Amino acid sequence: MNENATSTPTTNTIGDEVSPYAATPGLSSVVSYPKRCNLWGDARYRGNCDGTLFKELVLRYRATRIADPMMGSGTTRDVIAGLNEVTGTRIRYWGGDLKKGFDLYREQPRGEFDFVWVHPPYFNIVSYGGGEQDLSSEPHYRRFVTKLTVCLRNAYESLASGGHLAVLVADVRRAGGYYPLGRDVMNMEPCLGAIRSVIIKSQHNCKSDGRAYARMKHVPIKHEYCVVFEKTS
Ligand SMILES: C[S@@+](CC[C@H](N)C(=O)[O-])C[C@H]1O[C@@H](n2cnc3c(N)ncnc32)[C@H](O)[C@@H]1O
Repeated sequence: MNENATSTPTTNTIGDEVSPYAATPGLSSVVSYPKRCNLWGDARYRGNCDGTLFKELVLRYRATRIADPMMGSGTTRDVIAGLNEVTGTRIRYWGGDLKKGFDLYREQPRGEFDFVWVHPPYFNIVSYGGGEQDLSSEPHYRRFVTKLTVCLRNAYESLASGGHLAVLVADVRRAGGYYPLGRDVMNMEPCLGAIRSVIIKSQHNCKSDGRAYARMKHVPIKHEYCVVFEKTS
């Protein structure tokens, strides 16, 4: 499916420079990016993510048709624009978001893709103010998981056979409850193809970092999960 792929960088240098657009050698199932790469997206957008892990997966899978149906501030769009400009790839990208009038609960990403990245709201810890269709407006955790399953299935349906769906989520601790979103996404495996990787990503610069964790009985959550599924049929 990647006949159209152009030269994909495989080291962390382009020319003599270490480039943010090159693959990091030794990518493993544990990643940590303490410093956000400000070339991509908008750090002021609540719940935005750094684009480095997305870039690593795009390069690793040599993806040439990419979608992000919950693109928020456009981190993934900017990574692809930069990759195409700096490395000469011709990766096609489609991005949507409820804020742009695209509802992943009701629609599939427009096109057929070999890599789809979904970074949904982490339950209702950040409100995106998009009304009833906004996943972050669902106050009941089980109903949230059911809605997220529908969204991820729509994303999965837009994959070509052999394509990959990467879902970035974190568990949530709220009002004495623990909501294991990572586990629940992994449990969606039968309807989202086969799990191929689970990557643990350290969380940095969370809004909650300033809280007095010393008073908490249980340990603070400092990691996210990137679960990668492969479309097997
Ligand atoms: C965690 S943010 C994504 C942030 C993005 N990765 C970035 O770096 O800026 C989740 C996004 O999901 C969007 N969203 C919530 N419900 C949605 C739905 N039903 N369909 C599409 N987008 C939705 C929100 O508007 C929000 O932008």
